[in-house]
Amino acid sequence: MSLLRTFLPYPRAIRAMGFPKEVSGIRGRYLRCREHWANHLERSRSIILQGAERAEQRRKAVILGGGLLHDVPLAELSALFREVVLVDLIHPWSSRWATRHLRNVKRLEADITNTLDATYRVAWDGDKPLPTSEPRLFLDDPEVDFTASVNLLSQLPCMPMDYLKREGAHASVKVEQFARHLISAHLEYLNRLPGKVSLITDMERLKINLMGSIVERRDLFFGLPWPTRGEEWEWKLAPCPEADRSHHYYRRVLGIADWK
Ligand SMILES: C[S@@+](CC[C@H](N)C(=O)[O-])C[C@H]1O[C@@H](n2cnc3c(N)ncnc32)[C@H](O)[C@@H]1O
Repeated sequence: MSLLRTFLPYPRAIRAMGFPKEVSGIRGRYLRCREHWANHLERSRSIILQGAERAEQRRKAVILGGGLLHDVPLAELSALFREVVLVDLIHPWSSRWATRHLRNVKRLEADITNTLDATYRVAWDGDKPLPTSEPRLFLDDPEVDFTASVNLLSQLPCMPMDYLKREGAHASVKVEQFARHLISAHLEYLNRLPGKVSLITDMERLKINLMGSIVERRDLFFGLPWPTRGEEWEWKLAPCPEADRSHHYYRRVLGIADWK
């Protein structure tokens, strides 16, 4: 299946929303900014391992948003668990190749929100309601002892929102409501999964001038309350001049080893 996937284009909704381009953009930025990202990646890996070690059994571990695997301690998880399942829309060749020796790692190409196709179908028609997100993956799999949602949550609404805005058929208030709904449906999904669950997510975008002052904050939860537990840190995502010649764009990140 995975070999077949390599030679097939991604489904239309995924291409139209620009996911493959986004993933190659993340790869390029990682290569340029990896020293600045090191602390964030290390802290993300540490939260995942803290969560994994709390699992009562070591059968199946699930990583939601594995993608390029920069922030996933995959070798350690592969040694701890009987099986590790990486879930993402896109499993780039670079990460497949780098981890080919880990025989108990599987990849599942799936939309965690279960809404992308439906969003694509109604995007041009403002009279049609935006879909309801009902994530179901692994809810009925009693062998799942650990799941980590890894730097994924704030990404769930991003590309669908941009696509809906480009199509312009749905009012922006409806699009923002949809973004909030995708975030709360994912958090609700994490509550319902079997086993231990870790969550790592950025919550806020910070625009910082060259004097080090924050000049703008953007709430990536669109007004939903941020979780108040866990550890917080800064991800130096795009230090100047990566995205802008006079500002850094950083993220405030939250890591919770035991979400439930
Ligand atoms: C910021 S990256 C996460 C970091 C990732 N662990 C890495 O090292 O590249 C966000 C990931 O979420 C995935 N993603 C976004 N929306 C998704 C969805 N609806 N279902 C599954 N994966 C999704 C993207 O393909 C991307 O790999």
